[in-house]
Amino acid sequence: MTAKILVLPGDGIGPEIIAEAEKVLQALITDHELKLQIDHGAIGGHGVDVSGKPLPEETLEKARASDAVLLGAVGGPKWETIERSLRPERGLLAIRSGLGLYANLRPAIVHSALADASTLRPEIVAGLDIMIVRELTGGIYFGEPRGMRRTSDNLREGFNTLVYNEAEIRRIAGMAFEVARKRSGKICSVDKANVLEATELWREVVTEVAADYPDVSLQHMYVDNAAMQLVRDPKQFDVIVTTNMFGDILSDLASMLTGSIGMLPSASLNQTGQGLYEPIHGSAPDIAGQNKANPLATILSVAMMLRYSLNEISHANRIEAAVKKVLANGLRTPDICRSGDQAISTTDMGNAIVAAL
Ligand code: IPM
Ligand code: MG
Repeated sequence: MTAKILVLPGDGIGPEIIAEAEKVLQALITDHELKLQIDHGAIGGHGVDVSGKPLPEETLEKARASDAVLLGAVGGPKWETIERSLRPERGLLAIRSGLGLYANLRPAIVHSALADASTLRPEIVAGLDIMIVRELTGGIYFGEPRGMRRTSDNLREGFNTLVYNEAEIRRIAGMAFEVARKRSGKICSVDKANVLEATELWREVVTEVAADYPDVSLQHMYVDNAAMQLVRDPKQFDVIVTTNMFGDILSDLASMLTGSIGMLPSASLNQTGQGLYEPIHGSAPDIAGQNKANPLATILSVAMMLRYSLNEISHANRIEAAVKKVLANGLRTPDICRSGDQAISTTDMGNAIVAAL
């Protein structure tokens, strides 16, 4: 059966980086016998523009009927001041929630050719390979009640709710332990159990789940310490499992260990293996339309999609090998360029990957 994927370019640099990722997919289809049916849809600001909603119903229906979704990025100044429920980011949260994508895998890998692109010393980051497993459909991102109101003395007040039940924690912990088992057998659970009850429960439940994985060693760390340790000695970590918001923050931090947020792909999976694949960076409106963005995070997201949702391991390997080769040949978009290097454009980078497949 031919797998079906849905492509959602989104906003800002989204369409540019997605175009390069699709070039790579097309090359695999025409030259390497990948069988794939590709459809397109609108999300984010694009969704608002064409149908008045950041997640049009048609997009969610198509996504439900697909094996995987490939997404560019959402958001931009044009939609920052519209009604809150219509903002582009709500579209992203709605598709995550609508597809039940509770597990977000965010690898941070330092490619040997890029060890000197990091702002940290090469010996601190060379060889780094960590996997952040972020809970994606719960926590403070979705907790109710939430909103803006007036206090009794007429002060404006914004409020959110951090809530996790044990089933949500058990499910993401189980996924993270499975991932750890296939890697180095080491996992660090990040929380703020010294202050927040929701994460005190997190720590308790993760410890319970660990009993089913005697082959995996579990460590707990407070999030402030984890941020510090990630910069001090990132190679002490292998798999990190954490809440929605802590995972959001720590994955941006981890991305800079690798030199550029433009390098990091991600997979968001549900219980049936269906997944949404997207770069972890945003829509970068400041460089949109300038053919400057790094398409590698999106291209590497295609590799993750082939591996995790489509079981096309050899095609995934082919893409990752092409990325390594192109980086080893010294090709760099501006974000991973050192002063003096000649930067290439988004399209040139895409073409170079296609040529290296
Ligand atoms: C991410 C992004 C999103 C998030 C935003 C755009 C809603 O920062 O995927 O990390 O906070 O999850
Ligand atoms: Mg983020």
